[in-house]
Amino acid sequence: MFREVSDTAVLVDRSLVFIIGTAIAFLAVVTALMLYFVVRYRASRHPVAENPDREGSTALEVAWTVAATLLVILMFWFGWRDFAYLRTPPADALRVRVTAQEWSWRFTYAGGRESDVLRVPLGRPTRLDMTSLDVIHSAYIPAFRIKEDVVPGMTTHLWFTPKEAGKYDLFCTEYCGEGHSHMRAVVDVVPEAAFAVWLGEGAAAGPPQGEAVLKEKGCLGCHAIDGPGPVAPGFRGLYGSTVTVVTGGAERTIPADEPYLRRSIVDPAADVVKGYPNIMPRMPLDSAELDAVVAALKALGGTRP
Ligand code: CUA
Repeated sequence: MFREVSDTAVLVDRSLVFIIGTAIAFLAVVTALMLYFVVRYRASRHPVAENPDREGSTALEVAWTVAATLLVILMFWFGWRDFAYLRTPPADALRVRVTAQEWSWRFTYAGGRESDVLRVPLGRPTRLDMTSLDVIHSAYIPAFRIKEDVVPGMTTHLWFTPKEAGKYDLFCTEYCGEGHSHMRAVVDVVPEAAFAVWLGEGAAAGPPQGEAVLKEKGCLGCHAIDGPGPVAPGFRGLYGSTVTVVTGGAERTIPADEPYLRRSIVDPAADVVKGYPNIMPRMPLDSAELDAVVAALKALGGTRP
């Protein structure tokens, strides 16, 4: 009936169709009976009530009470059984650490591979262990019909088994600030062999590449390479330009040199570019990654040293 690309989608759709279907069937029956009685027993045809002393029917009342109760119990049973399934990932599931941060998603695999795309193998259960570095976010993959809050200080879970290769959306579905609507990621379901190759590539990679780090760490959720980002300055031409920043409440114009770039990554609140909110978190970069990012920003910069 719907496109169901995961095991979880099948379960959730079945409950939804059953509940909505039951509601529509009752609506149809009640409306049809109502219309029939309105016409059949209208006042012009029956000016006097036929049997004003009718007391009702115990048998009928018991029948529809029991029928309705059974239907509701059936709905509860579907919900209970499928909820238990959704909350119980198998022990052999592929585990992916999900780190949410204003306003990006980062996916970390057992071998240490990091990605801004949630790449998962087709037909194999994947379990997401999710946490947040700042505020409450919520991971939502509509194609799989699953959703769970991502909360700082604790780890929450989701799991699914994809049934069809393809790219699907992952949205943040908890309003988490200015960049909330940009907080999206791609779920890429690929065949098992292709997944193994991709995972291996990451493990074999050499020193970090600056632009790759910018992407993987989610910097581009707020910044952009070209042009201004959604809620933060763009990178091209930044190095070597002059920037007007607010430092401790006072405005000043300073050169965007290497010390400025490093300070802005390590201590983002020190100098906040005028016109932008002071929202950047301290980035969890190791020193090799920091050097790579600074080198990339310098490469994107203007001509001045
Ligand atoms: Cu994160 Cu909305």
